[in-house]
Amino acid sequence: MCGIFAVIGSREVSPLLVDGLRKMEYRGYDSAGLATIQNSNKDHSRNLIIRKSKGKLINLSNLLKKDPIQGHVGIGHTRWATHGKPNEINAHPHIDFTGEIAVVQNGIIENYRDLSHSLLLKGIEFTSQTDTEVIPHLIALEIEKSLNNDCSPNGETLLISVQKVLSLLEGTYALAVIWSKAPDALVVARRQAPLVLGFGEGEFFCASDTPALSGFTRTFLPLENNEVALLTPLGIELYDQSGQRQHRAPSLLKGTEFFGDKKNFRHFMLKEIYEQPETAQLWIERYLPIDLQSDTSIAFPVSKSILNKIDQIQILACGTSRHAAMVGAYLLEQFAGVPTKVYFASEFRYSPPPLSSNTLTIGVSQSGETADTLAALRMEKERRNATNDINFCFHQLGITNRIDSSIGRELDNIIDIGSGIEIGVAATKTFLGQMLSFYGLTLLFASHTKKRNKKEILDLSNDLRLVPRQLTDLIKKHDSLSKELAHLFVDTKDVIFLGRGINYPIALEGALKLKEISYIHAQGYPAGELKHGPIALLDQHVPVVSIAVPGVVYEKVLSNSQEAKARDARLIGIAPYGKESEIFDELFSIPKVSEWVSPLLTVIPLQLFSYHIAAHKGLDVDQPRNLAKSVTVE
Ligand code: F6R
Repeated sequence: MCGIFAVIGSREVSPLLVDGLRKMEYRGYDSAGLATIQNSNKDHSRNLIIRKSKGKLINLSNLLKKDPIQGHVGIGHTRWATHGKPNEINAHPHIDFTGEIAVVQNGIIENYRDLSHSLLLKGIEFTSQTDTEVIPHLIALEIEKSLNNDCSPNGETLLISVQKVLSLLEGTYALAVIWSKAPDALVVARRQAPLVLGFGEGEFFCASDTPALSGFTRTFLPLENNEVALLTPLGIELYDQSGQRQHRAPSLLKGTEFFGDKKNFRHFMLKEIYEQPETAQLWIERYLPIDLQSDTSIAFPVSKSILNKIDQIQILACGTSRHAAMVGAYLLEQFAGVPTKVYFASEFRYSPPPLSSNTLTIGVSQSGETADTLAALRMEKERRNATNDINFCFHQLGITNRIDSSIGRELDNIIDIGSGIEIGVAATKTFLGQMLSFYGLTLLFASHTKKRNKKEILDLSNDLRLVPRQLTDLIKKHDSLSKELAHLFVDTKDVIFLGRGINYPIALEGALKLKEISYIHAQGYPAGELKHGPIALLDQHVPVVSIAVPGVVYEKVLSNSQEAKARDARLIGIAPYGKESEIFDELFSIPKVSEWVSPLLTVIPLQLFSYHIAAHKGLDVDQPRNLAKSVTVE
C-alpha cells in the first residue's frame, strides 16, 4: 500500500528518496513520485520540483536520470490507488494552487468531497481525482492567512498551518509536506496510518515502515496517533494534537536484515517458501524448546492470570491471517476445548456480536498495520472499556511478524511469530508462523483447561518438533513436481479447492494464493458443501484440488473427491501415498502425520503450485497487480 519516504539534511535527497521508496516496494503500489526544493542558479530563488511516473519505481528512476532534480529536502511516495485511476496525474506528490507546497499522503480523507466543494467555491481548481489534493490547497490558504498576519515564511509557519488543516480532516492519514518558502522544514503527521521518524547524522527521515530506514539509520521513533513533527537539518520537534511539545527517546532497530536479497531465487515468494523449515525451527527453539519446565507447555509471554479469566476466544483478522486464525480456532475448540470464533475484521467493525463475558480477543496480522484489524481491535477495546463491568474487560493478544508495528505497540500481549521480513506480497512463511503460534496457544490452553492429558500434550509437542524436517523434504519433493505440472494449468480459468475440518482453511488459503498471484479464479469449499451447489461448475475444464488427510474426515473427503471425478474434473490430491490416493490424477504426496499438525504440511504443495503457475505465466509474482503487502486503508 502507499509508502512515504521523506528526508531533510545536507545531502542531495533525490537518490535517497528513490532508495527509501525501493525498500518499501514490497508493500505494493501502482505509481511513484517525489518532490524536492531546488535552488535556482539564476536568481537564487527556491522552487518546488516534482517528478512522477506511472508503474514501477524503475520508471521514476529512469525519468530522474533523464531529468535530474536537486535539493536537500524532499518527499517521496509510492501510490496504491484508492481515489482516481493509477496514472501520473493522480500520483503523489500533489501541489497547491500557488505551486509552492507539496504533499504526499497515505490513507483516506473521508470528508474530501465537502472540503473540495468549499475550495471550488473559492475558485481553486483541482488537477487530480484524488482525496489528497485538498490538503495542499488548504495548507496554502492557512499560510496565506498567516503571512497576512505578518508571520515570516519559515518552518514554524508551515507547522502551524499544517496543524490547523489537520483539524479539518476526517479519516485516516499519514502525510509529509514541504514548502518552497521554507526549505529547511519538513512537516509530517499521522492519524491511524503508520509513520516512523529516523534519526541520521545531520539528516532526518520519515517513512511509512522501518525497512525503508535500513541503510540510513537504525535509530527510529514511531509517531503516535495525531502527532505532528517538524523536521529540520538540526533535529526533530514533536507535538501532540493540542500542540504540546512531546519528548520521547527513540529506539534502536534490531537486526540488520537486508531487504533486497533474493539469494539466487527467481522471486522472493519462492525464497520465502524455502525459508519455512527455518521459520518453523526458529519458532520451536524459541517457544517449544526441549528443556521446557515440566509444568509449562509453551514459552509464550502470556500471563497465567489471563488464562484463568478466559471462557472463550474471538479472533479478528483479514485474508491469509484469517485462514491461520481458522486453523487456530479449530485447534482451540477441538484440542483445547475453548469456544472460539473467527471474524473478518472488516465485518466485525460494523456488526460486532453482543458482548460476551470473559473473552480473549486475538488480533492476527503479519504486518501489524492492517487498517481493518487495527480498527476492529480498537473498537472492541472501547466498547468493552465502556461497560465498566469486570467480566467484560478487554483481554487482548496480538499475533504478528512485526512487533514494531501499530498492533505490536498497541496490544499488551504479543506473540512475535519471528518469521523474518516477508517481501513477497503473497504471505507464505508468515502464514506458517501464525499457524504455529496458534499451536502454541492450543498447547497452553489445553494444559490449562485439562481438556487433554499430559501424553496428548506431549504427543502434539513432539509432532510439532518433527515439522521443520518434514517441511524440508516436502519443499524439495514438490518444487519440481509443481513446476512440471504448472504448464498443464496455465490456461485454466477456474479451480476448486476442497478440504474439511482442520484442512478446510487450507483449501481457502490454496484458493487465495492461486487467485492472488496467477489471476486464476479459484474457490475453496468445505468438501461436504460441493454437492450443495459448486458441483454444477464441474467439467473437464475445472480442476479440483482435494486435501485428504487420514483422520476424522478422511473417508468423507475421498468420497467428495470421487463425486468431483465422476463429473470429469481433473483431480489433484494433497494426500499420503497409498491405495486410496489412486483416485487422484495427480498426487502431491505428504507424509502420514497426525491430522492435528497436517495443515502445516498440506499448505506447502499449494503454495508451490500457485507459485509455479504464476511464474510460468511470466507474472509479477512478488508484486501482483492491485495488491498491497500492508493494507493501511479501510
Ligand atoms: C494474502 C495476503 C493478504 C493478507 C491480508 C492481511 O497472501 O497477503 O490476504 O493476509 O491483507 O494482512 P495482515 O496479515 O498484514 O493483516
